[in-house]
Amino acid sequence: MLIDNYGRPWLKLRIAVNSVCNYRCIFCHFEGQGRFLSRELSAEDIGFVVSVAKELGVDDFKITGGEPLLRKDIVEVVDEVNKVGPRDLSLTTNGYLLDLYAEDLLSHGLRRLNISLHSLDRRKYKFITGVDALDKVLENIDYVSGLGFKQIKLNMVVLRGLNTDEIPMMIRFAAKYGFVLQLIELMPMGDGFPVFARYYDDLNDVINWLNKHGKLLGTRKDLHNRPIYEVDGVKVEIVKNYNNPTFCAGCTTMRLTSDGRLKTCLYKEPVVDLWPYIRARDREGLMKAMIYANSLRRPNFVEVHPVI
Ligand code: 5AD
Ligand code: SF4
Repeated sequence: MLIDNYGRPWLKLRIAVNSVCNYRCIFCHFEGQGRFLSRELSAEDIGFVVSVAKELGVDDFKITGGEPLLRKDIVEVVDEVNKVGPRDLSLTTNGYLLDLYAEDLLSHGLRRLNISLHSLDRRKYKFITGVDALDKVLENIDYVSGLGFKQIKLNMVVLRGLNTDEIPMMIRFAAKYGFVLQLIELMPMGDGFPVFARYYDDLNDVINWLNKHGKLLGTRKDLHNRPIYEVDGVKVEIVKNYNNPTFCAGCTTMRLTSDGRLKTCLYKEPVVDLWPYIRARDREGLMKAMIYANSLRRPNFVEVHPVI
């Protein structure tokens, strides 16, 4: 296992499999990569990177995009990652195309799903995502809930004055299906930057509400030290990243961009280009590049102690 200079192990890889999306969310951070990148790793390329990462102790993989289900060969991508025998393999989607792929993804080794659902109100959903698709996504959610995934999480980005009033409703919705609810603080990244002043909510009111109506179960040490609450039988995870040194102290992730670069942090550089080693199927070179990237990892938000 690799440990960085701040004592944080590297355990997880977030794999962006494309740079396109059929949605246009008002806050999209696009996983910190550009849109419409000219190069896209093949399923085999991704399998190669994953196999080397696995040798270095990374065994938890998350497939993202863009919108990963826009890749026609998404099932092969899952196959390639599953080949290395990961401890965990999950995928984040906006849910629009789940009816086409969910069964195959499950039978090819996908364990868990994250489905973005920022509102249960049709008008607000359309405003947030740019697409009038709430009904379709709700149908898909209902369908996948019965397929046998180990876990389904709903991702809700909390937007002040826009969907904060829907949180109790969203908890009831998650309860109906036995889903986990992930409440995500808005990050000032990509399209999230221009809307940040308008919609940012520091989640403190939500946390107070959760303390009153539910109970704190603990924190995920392997996942940004995020707190987990339980309300009415529903697990609610708080993803509070902005200006949060505790979050960064618990970061165990790096990100593979869809054009083959390894990002040490969502927020910024440094980025190590893996493409030459991927193209040449150079295992040793790729491993060295990954070890180098790990040595560059550093927390974005740190405790600042005044010098006296
Ligand atoms: N801030 C917080 N979350 C975001 N997401 C996309 N952009 C942002 C942002 N600026 C969410 C997506 C998805 C998850 C991977 O991150 O909606 O659910
Ligand atoms: Fe697409 Fe996700 Fe970005 Fe929305 S947040 S535009 S679904 S990539």
